[in-house]
Amino acid sequence: MMELLRLLVLGMALWATTAVADTNLDIPFPYNCSTKTTCSSLRLKLPNENEEFNAQLVNSSANNNSTLLFDLTNKRGNKLALSISAIEGKRFRVIVEEHDEHRYKLEHSLEKEPNLVKLTIVETSNISVTAQTESGSKIIVKTTPLSIEFYQDNALTSIFEGNRIIFEDTEESEAFTFSVQFPNANRLMGLHEHADNLKLRHTADFSIDPYRLRNTDYGTTEYSLNTTKSMYGSIPVIYGFGNKTSSGIFHHNAAEQWIDINNNRHSAYFMVDGGRLDLFVLLGPSLPETVRQYVDLTGKPHLPQLWALGYHQCRWAYNTTGDVMDTIGNFDTYDFPLDVLWLDIEYTSERKWFTWNASSFPDPVKLLNWVDAQGHRKLVPISDPHIKIDPAYKVYNDLLNGGWFVNNSDGLSPFVGECWPGNSSWVDYLNPEARDYYAQLHLYENFPSTSALGGYWNDMNEPTLFDNLYERTFPFDLVHHGGVKHRDVHNIYGMLQTMSTHKGLMTRDNGTLRPFILSRAYFAGSQRYANKWSGDNWGDFEDLRYSVPMALTSNLVGLPFYGADIPGFFGTATEELLVRWYQIGIWLPFFRAHAAQGSPRREPFRFGNKTQAILRKNMQLRYKHLPYWYTLFYENTVTGDPILRPLLYQYPEDPVGYDLDDEFLIGTDILTTSVYESNATSVRIYFPGQSDKWVLINGNSTHLYNGGTWANIPIDITFTPAFYRAGSIIPRKPRVLRSTADIKNDPLELHIVLDDHQKAKGRLYSDDFESFKYQNEKEYLYYSLAYDDATSTLTSSPIDTDNSPGNLTVQIDRVVIYTSDNADQMTVRKVEIDNTGKKLNTINFINSSIKL
Ligand code: NOJ
Repeated sequence: MMELLRLLVLGMALWATTAVADTNLDIPFPYNCSTKTTCSSLRLKLPNENEEFNAQLVNSSANNNSTLLFDLTNKRGNKLALSISAIEGKRFRVIVEEHDEHRYKLEHSLEKEPNLVKLTIVETSNISVTAQTESGSKIIVKTTPLSIEFYQDNALTSIFEGNRIIFEDTEESEAFTFSVQFPNANRLMGLHEHADNLKLRHTADFSIDPYRLRNTDYGTTEYSLNTTKSMYGSIPVIYGFGNKTSSGIFHHNAAEQWIDINNNRHSAYFMVDGGRLDLFVLLGPSLPETVRQYVDLTGKPHLPQLWALGYHQCRWAYNTTGDVMDTIGNFDTYDFPLDVLWLDIEYTSERKWFTWNASSFPDPVKLLNWVDAQGHRKLVPISDPHIKIDPAYKVYNDLLNGGWFVNNSDGLSPFVGECWPGNSSWVDYLNPEARDYYAQLHLYENFPSTSALGGYWNDMNEPTLFDNLYERTFPFDLVHHGGVKHRDVHNIYGMLQTMSTHKGLMTRDNGTLRPFILSRAYFAGSQRYANKWSGDNWGDFEDLRYSVPMALTSNLVGLPFYGADIPGFFGTATEELLVRWYQIGIWLPFFRAHAAQGSPRREPFRFGNKTQAILRKNMQLRYKHLPYWYTLFYENTVTGDPILRPLLYQYPEDPVGYDLDDEFLIGTDILTTSVYESNATSVRIYFPGQSDKWVLINGNSTHLYNGGTWANIPIDITFTPAFYRAGSIIPRKPRVLRSTADIKNDPLELHIVLDDHQKAKGRLYSDDFESFKYQNEKEYLYYSLAYDDATSTLTSSPIDTDNSPGNLTVQIDRVVIYTSDNADQMTVRKVEIDNTGKKLNTINFINSSIKL
C-alpha cells in the first residue's frame, strides 16, 4: 500500500515537474496521517499480549542512587532498557531504548544536564517497585505489564502507560510509540505550534488527524487555522491542568511526531519517527510550578534590549535606500513611534546572505548611521540558512571547502535543492565548525554594517525547500555532521541556526549588547537565542482570533516573546481589521506589522486622519506601558513565568475562565481581549477573581467591574478594552516620542489603582536597557512598590539584596490614583497629582517612603 502511495506521489511529482519547472509545487501538502507511515501504521496498533512489555529491576543504585534500571521484555523476545531517574525540582526522566543505545541522543535543547537526586526504593513485590525522593516525589513501577505511576505528595499526577510501547528497529524505521495519562487533569494544553485553541482537542476518535510536530513551511499560502496540522515550530510539551493538581511532560526528541489526544481519559499517545524515547515528567503540582519545571530544563531567555519591545515595521520589501529613508521619515512626519524597520530578502545581491545589493543599497554604513540618527532606530535584515550555489560567492566556497553543508544520503556530497536564490545548499548547523564559520559572518568586516543593524531575522529555517515532494523540506535521509540522519534532528535545525546567529552577534558586539534574533522555526530551548512570530497568516478576523491562543500557548511553553504579523501577512485587511489588529498587537509581546510581496502599502501613516489618530493613540499606549512590559520580561528571565497568561494560569480555582482563550492577562495586573468581528458595538468579557476588581483604562470612562462577573463593554472603533486590576501599581511612561531611546530616561508615572482597603502594590525593574551588566555585574534596580491611601504613603523597597544600582536611577514625578468611593459603584475617581499643584518630589529609587 505504502509503496503504491510512493509511486503515486512520484507520479504526481513527475507530472508537476513538467508543470512547474522542477519544484513539484503542485503536490498538496502538508501530508496527513493516512499518507505517512509512522502515523498510519502505528495509530491503530494496540500491542497484544505477546507484544506487551514486562519490567524487571536490574539495578537500583545507578547514577549515585538516582536511577532505577529495568530490563523490558515481551513474549516475542524483544528486549529494551528502561531507566528512571529522579531529578531535582519534582521531576523524573524516563528513557527507553535498545540495550546497545544506538539511537541518536539529542543535543543542545537542554540548557544543561539536570541535577539528579536520590531515589530510594521503599517497597518491592512481585508486581511492583515503589521508590521516592526526599521532596515527596514518588514512583510506583508496575512490572507486569509495565506502567509507571508518578505521585507528588501522595497525589497521583500521571501514568506512563507501558502497554502502548512499540519499538521498531529496522533499516527503514526506528519509529516508536508511548502513552501518558493525566488522571487528575480536566484539560490538556501545549504541543506548540498549532493554529488552534489553548485546550488540546480530542483526536483519539480518529475524526481528525493527531497533532503533528514537524517544522513545516506553508509555502505560497497562509497557514491553516483550527487544525492539528504541523507548523513552523515544535515544542513537545503537554500540561495536564486540574483545579487541584496539574502536571506535565516534555518529550526531549526532535524527530517528527504525531500525538493523539484523548480528552475522555486525558491521555496523549505519541507516535515518533525516530530518536530515542526520552521523557521528562513534571510533577507540578500547580500549573505555574509545572511551567517552571519545564522552563528550567531548556532555559530562560535573556532580556531583550528595550528597543525590541517597541514597534516594528516590516514589509516584503523595503527595496531601496530611498524607500527605507522615506518610510522612517514618514513615521516622524506623521508622529508615529517606531523602533525598527525590517529588510526582507530584496536588500541582498541575488539573495546571497551577508551581501548588499550594490545598486539599491550602495552605502549601507551611511544608511545605518542615518537610521541611528533618527532616534537610535534599528534595521533588522533577513538571513536564511540556504546558500546560493555560486562559485563567485565567497560564503558558498568557504562552506563547500570546509565540508560544512548538509550532505546527501551518501554522507559525502552536499545536498542541492531550490529556495529563493535558485539552486542552493544548506549550512549544517550540527557541525560546530560550520556554526562558528556562520557566526563570524555577522562581524562588521564580513558584512558591512554598524550596531544600528540591530539583529537578524532567521527565516525559512524549518528548513524550507521549494519542493512539495518532501513536504517542502529536506528528505529525511540527508546526513549531518557525525553521520546524523536528518530524520532524527529535523525539528531542531532552525534552533541551531539561531544558536549560531546568536554567537555571531555576541562576537560582533564583544558580548556587550543583548542579541536580537527573530526565527520562524524553533524547538524546545530556542528561547535562549531567539524570539518568534507565527508566520504567514491571512488578513481576516479568524486569523486575528487564533493569534491569541497561539501566543498564550507559546508563553506557557517557555517562549514568551511571540507575536503575529499585523494585520495579516497575506490578503488585504480591511481598514477596520487593521485597526483592531493594532489594538490587540500592542498587548502581545512582539509587536510587528508585516505585509506580503506585492500587497498594498499599509504603514500607519498611509491612512486617513481618523484612522491615523486611532492607530497613533493605540501605539502610544504600547510605549506608555514599556516599564510594565520590561519588568515582566525581566521576571521571565528569572522565573520562566509566562508574560501573557491565560485565565486558568492565574485563577485555577475559577472554572469559568478555564476555556477562555480569547481574553488574557499581561502579567497579573492587566486584562484585555480583542474584537473578533466586524461592526462590533460591544465586547463580552469575563472578569476573573471573585475578590478582584478591574478598571477600564482606555474607554470613555473608568468603569469598575467586579471579578466573577461577565460584562458587555460598549465599544467603538477607537479602542479595544483593557483593564487594570484594583490593588495594582502600573509603572508607565508619561509621554511618547519617536522611539524607545527617546523616552527611556524619562521619569515614570505610576498608575495606582486602589483596592477595597485603599491600598495597592506593584513592582518595577530597570537597568541600562541594552547590556548584560544586569546579569554579569547584577547592575539593575528591582523594587516592590506599595501605596496606602490612609496615610498617603508610597513606599519602595528593594526585592533583591545582592544587586548593585551602579549609576542607575529611576525617577517618578507623577502618580495617578484611581479610587472608588463606593464599592458598589461602577465608577472610579481619578486623582492626578502633577506639577500644577502638588508636584511630587522626584524619588530617587532607593529604599524610601514618601508622603504624596
Ligand atoms: C517567508 C516569511 O514567512 C515571510 O515573512 C517573508 O516575508 C518571506 N518568507 C520572504 O522572505
